[in-house]
Order: sequence, then C-alpha cells, then structure tokens
Amino acid sequence: MNEYRVGYFVGSLSASSINRVLSQALIRLAPDGLAFTEIPIGDLPLYNRDFDVDYPPEARALKQRIAESDALLFVTPEYNRSIPGALKNAIDWASRPWGTNSFDHVPAAVIGASPGAIGTALAQQSLRSVLSFCNARQMTAPEAYLTFREGLFEDDGTVTDASTEEFLRSFMTEFRDHIERVLTVLPRR
Ligand code: FNR
Repeated sequence: MNEYRVGYFVGSLSASSINRVLSQALIRLAPDGLAFTEIPIGDLPLYNRDFDVDYPPEARALKQRIAESDALLFVTPEYNRSIPGALKNAIDWASRPWGTNSFDHVPAAVIGASPGAIGTALAQQSLRSVLSFCNARQMTAPEAYLTFREGLFEDDGTVTDASTEEFLRSFMTEFRDHIERVLTVLPRR
C-alpha cells in the first residue's frame, strides 16, 4: 500500500480550538497509508506582494511544507460566514509569488466544526472557492459540516458519539481514496 504525506492546516489560532481537537480525531480515525504533519500558520506576517521578490523565512517554510506534502487537509472554523483571516493569509502566501502556486494540482479536503447549526458550511464554501481558483484537486464528496457540542470529543481527539466517529472515519477513508486517484494521474514526486 502506498503511504501518502498529508499536511494539515488548522484555521484557528486558539489554544482551545475545537477544530484542533477535530484534527486530532481525524488523524486517529484515518486509515493506514496516511502520515500527518501540521502546517502552522500562526507566525506568518500579513501577506504583502512587495515581498514577492524576497519571501520571509516563515513564508518560505510554509511553501516548503506544502511541497513536502502529497495532499492537504483543511480543518477550519467559520468566522463571519467565511474562513478566518489567518487561514486566508496563509493561502495567499502559498499561492504566490506568481508562477509558483503551491496548491497547483494538490489533492485537498476541507472540513470544520462550529457550535452553530450549519457547522461551518459557509466557511467551507468560501474555502472551496479559494482552493478552486488555486487549482487544488478538491474532494467534492462527502462534505462534512460538524455541529460541535460539549463532550463530543475528548481532549486527545477521541470521539464520544458512535455515528459521528463512523462518519469521520468514512470521510478519511474517502480522502485517502481521493488522494490515490489524483496522484495516480498527477504524481507529486
Ligand atoms: C465566530 N463563530 C462563528 N460560528 C459560526 O458557526 N459561524 C460564524 O460565522 C461565526 N463567526 C465567528 C466570528 C468570530 C470572529 C469568532 C471569534 C467566532 C463562532 C465559532 O464557530 C466558535 O468560536 C468556534 O469555537 C471557533 O472554532 P475554534 O477556534 O474553537 O476552532
């Protein structure tokens, strides 16, 4: 079985982020053949195209981490019906300088949790639009909009509800299959 390196983004910078716990749950439930590394976004300066001629070290590291990933997973909250600015900022850095878009043809999936009833649906639509422009090869189904309630996850990412656990497990299995399909046609290395 092939092993794929998955870089994952957590869209929240909060120390108590429910999306960070969700990312740990997804890693726990992932099938064999996926190895995960977080791609941090919290230390990036604000994107400014004046730096395109000489990227700062944090942005170089971001692009390097994406280059070392076979696929990308975005686990994000919804802020004001879109994605957090920190995540958009990271995507802007990685998409540039012109001609070196780090997302080109990279398999990707999006997921998120919020206490709200629509479970980050609008943030994910917004993110999908951005990733589409960046030419990432997104998994379109299944979609995963999680309404968070207290106690759904333990701190280590253990899921306490059996049907949610099964759903997240199948999401990750589908993601692995998606990665394999994309990379069969568009190898990364
Ligand atoms: C939110 N929250 C929120 N929730 C939602 O479902 N839709 C929304 O549009 C917003 N907007 C929003 C804006 C801002 C600035 C904040 C701080 C929060 C609530 C949000 O879902 C909640 O704080 C989550 O816990 C955030 O995820 P993390 O940080 O816990 O991963």
